[in-house]
Amino acid sequence: MNELKKQIKKIEEDCSKELKKARSLQSLESVRIAYLGRSGALTDLMTQLKTLSLEQKRTLGPLLNKLKNQLHDAYESRKKAIEKKATSPAALFDVTAYKPNQLHGSLHIYTQIIEQLSSIFMSMGYVIADGPEMETEYYNFTTLNIPEDHPARDSHDTFWLSLPDRLLRTHTSSVQAHTMENSTPPLAIFAPGRCYRNEATDASHDFMFTQGEGLFVAENVSMAHLLATAQTFLQHFFGKSDLEIRVRPGYFPFVEPGVEIDGSCPFCMKGCSICKHTGWIELLGAGLVHPNVLRANGIDPEHYSGFAFGFGIERLAMIKYGVNDIRLFHSASIPFLQQFA
Ligand code: FA5
Repeated sequence: MNELKKQIKKIEEDCSKELKKARSLQSLESVRIAYLGRSGALTDLMTQLKTLSLEQKRTLGPLLNKLKNQLHDAYESRKKAIEKKATSPAALFDVTAYKPNQLHGSLHIYTQIIEQLSSIFMSMGYVIADGPEMETEYYNFTTLNIPEDHPARDSHDTFWLSLPDRLLRTHTSSVQAHTMENSTPPLAIFAPGRCYRNEATDASHDFMFTQGEGLFVAENVSMAHLLATAQTFLQHFFGKSDLEIRVRPGYFPFVEPGVEIDGSCPFCMKGCSICKHTGWIELLGAGLVHPNVLRANGIDPEHYSGFAFGFGIERLAMIKYGVNDIRLFHSASIPFLQQFA
């Protein structure tokens, strides 16, 4: 009888341990068969019970029944736990599954380049600013010293909307007035964003493109500040600490004097196809903020001055990465986009 009691104890311990160890329904079923199945260890003990005396049966019978129920309950609860785990999101997601040559997502070149530009300007203390793409004539033209009938309006082939006094902004200079009217100098902003012009497209022109606009207004701001800022920015952007700039007169109604800033070609010393063998590349439109623009936005031009500059973001990216067609930027061409992954 003691021998049987020992066996009951051992079955209880072994079966409980193996139930806990089972990690799948398959291994759990093997445990069930080994202990609770028709030829299992517990059934075997039940058969041995038949050969015992009545008194022994009275003692051991309830013990065996209790063990049977106990192991059955333990089996059921382990089964539920395994089933629950198998359908949890963690179990369905196999981190070891790897499919070779799979395409990976990456940030779009627009996002990458805007992040690069923004971080350069933020490192110089500029704040990133934003403005609406659907603009009024006032913000896109009038407040920028481009009154109605000014010929400069014609050079911006504008998408006029069928809503009254609404157009798609033709340049990010429209953010200048939004910023100035809501803050007092000193102010330094960089505003990247989409612009639209009703132009025929070719390899360097699109009807939708992005510009970056810089504006700095404070006391005693001069052309020297503009040129130092432009050179520092371009040197960082092209990763060339010896990049030089040169300045030519340029006309933009919202700056006076207005200039075009060229950078020395970052790819050659004497001339290459990118700089059309001149050694220089036209990069920025810029100038000192016109007093009329400051005045129109509540800033006293006797007390404050400022500079502004603007550029085509695709144009800078095309030069930096050797892209030969601006239309590739929103073509969704996977081979094009993968080059920047
Ligand atoms: C302007 O838009 C001025 N607002 C820039 C400026 C800002 C000057 C502040 C002075 C002070 P412009 O029209 O030249 O200037 O455009 C600037 C750049 O935008 C161009 O050099 C070009 O790179 C880009 N751009 C203009 N039109 C298109 C177009 N259709 N497609 C692609 N890029 C364009």
